[in-house]
Order: sequence, then structure tokens, then C-alpha cells
Amino acid sequence: MSDQPPATGTEYLLELDDIQAGYGRAAMVLRGLTIKVPPSTVVCLVGPNGAGKSTVLKVASGLLKPRSGRVLVGGHDVTGQGPQEMLSSGLAHVLQGHSVFREMTVAENVLLGAYTLRDKEKIAKRVAFVQELFPIVGERWKQLAGLLSGGQQKQVEFARSLMVSPRVVLLDEPSMGLDPKTTATVFEQVVRMRDAGVAVLLVEQNARRALETADIGCVLDLGRVHITGPAPELLADPQLSELYLGGRPSGAATS
Ligand SMILES: Nc1ncnc2c1ncn2[C@@H]1O[C@H](COP(=O)(O)OP(=O)(O)OP(=O)(O)O)[C@@H](O)[C@H]1O
Ligand SMILES: [Mg+2]
Repeated sequence: MSDQPPATGTEYLLELDDIQAGYGRAAMVLRGLTIKVPPSTVVCLVGPNGAGKSTVLKVASGLLKPRSGRVLVGGHDVTGQGPQEMLSSGLAHVLQGHSVFREMTVAENVLLGAYTLRDKEKIAKRVAFVQELFPIVGERWKQLAGLLSGGQQKQVEFARSLMVSPRVVLLDEPSMGLDPKTTATVFEQVVRMRDAGVAVLLVEQNARRALETADIGCVLDLGRVHITGPAPELLADPQLSELYLGGRPSGAATS
């Protein structure tokens, strides 16, 4: 579904390799972080507040230049490129918090994501694609986005990010501020994106719920990926559960 050039023999769509990054003169936030995102996979990065999860996504989308290390998209070195170039390389970033313009219609919000596209036919195809993937977007197309619920607005943000046919979507805390039922819907939509051929790098504080959705999990600690592996294995690990996931795995025996 992507219009980007094919990958160059690499098995990963996005690679962050040994990244050091931080803000101004403050201590480095990321200290040798490596994350790899294979095609059609949800990779979930979990960690406590302030661990540097959003910083990882900012480095990936070109909002923050790393001090050292490399960023590769489809095997091409894109280290140091800005957000516009990263978008052209096939990386779309859905920021933490709410980025829907409430006084604009759903249509206007979604079409903002197509501002780099000139071909009307292509835009129409993308609109049809996102409306199929997120039915609520089509149903409420002409309504003001501010009239939608939080979970519905999140789907408008997802739809906007997909207008440029990205290879990888970076999602920063999509469940923030949503109730458990709406959170479940949003995570279902994340899986639908993956099944539609988009790789997802998902950042979440809602660690257990996110790992239940993801294929691969990464635990961020002290500026590095401390543990990584298949998400079900991380969920089943009692020690990891105690340390990072807020308790024992569901169904685990208590002593
Ligand atoms: N624009 C900025 N300028 C200076 N320091 C920043 C900036 N953004 C983040 N930081 C610092 O970098 C560290 C990591 O922040 P980051 O936002 O990446 O954490 P996070 O894991 O996403 O946290 P949260 O779960 O609260 O969203 C924090 O110590 C934070 O204070
Ligand atoms: Mg954050």
C-alpha cells in the first residue's frame, strides 16, 4: 500500500541504531538505544513517565536530531533528516495528546494529512482507504471533529497520518485519556492498521494492554532498551511483570 521506494534487502522498515539523544545541555535521555521494526508488525515500547518514550519517536520522525547513532528507513540511512523528509521517507508520527482541530470538520482534519499530495485521484483513493479502515471517519466526514468522542477523534488522527501512505506509523500514547472500552477500540484499530500493511511503533504507558496488542515488546530503562522479545513472552514473565507492568500476569499463581 506504500508509495515509497522498496527496502534494500533489509528485513526492517525502521531501525534506530545505538541512538544517543537529549535536549540542550541536560543529561542525555537516550543512551545507546536500539529498536528495529519489521514490516507488518506492531512493536510496542513501554516504560515509566519520563523514561524517554516520546523522545524515541521524535528521533525516529526527525523532530529531534540524535547526537550519535543512525536512523534507517527501509535500509536507507536517513539520520539527521528533518520531519518533512522523514514523512517523504514513509514515516508518519501521531503525537502524544490530542491533535484534532475541533472547529474543523473530520474531512478537513483528515485532508490536512494530504497537504503534500497534488494528485486528486490519489487523494480520493486514500480517502476511500482510510474511510474503509476507520468507518467512523466516513460516517462523520462532514461533522465538526469537536463533536466526536475522544476515541473517535483518535481514529481521525490515525486516518490523517495514513493519507501519505506511510510504511511506518509512530503512535505516541494513543490510549491517553480514554476509558478502558474506548482504549480497546483504539487498540483494535492499531491491529487493523498493521493488517492493512503498515508497521507500527507504539509507545504506551498502559503497558500490559499495549503488550496484549503488540507483536514485539521493548522495555525502556535508563535510556536503553533493557529487554525486548515477543510480546506474549514479556507478558508471561513474572519478574518483568512485577518490575514494569504493575503486577503479576493475569492467571499467574500467587504464593
Ligand atoms: N522539549 C524538551 N526540552 C527539554 N527536556 C525535555 C523535552 N521533552 C522531554 N524532555 C525531558 O526528556 C525526558 C524524557 O521525556 P519524554 O517526553 O521522552 O518521556 P516519556 O517517556 O515520553 O514520558 P511520558 O510517559 O510522561 O510521556 C524527561 O526527563 C523530560 O523532562
Ligand atoms: Mg511521552
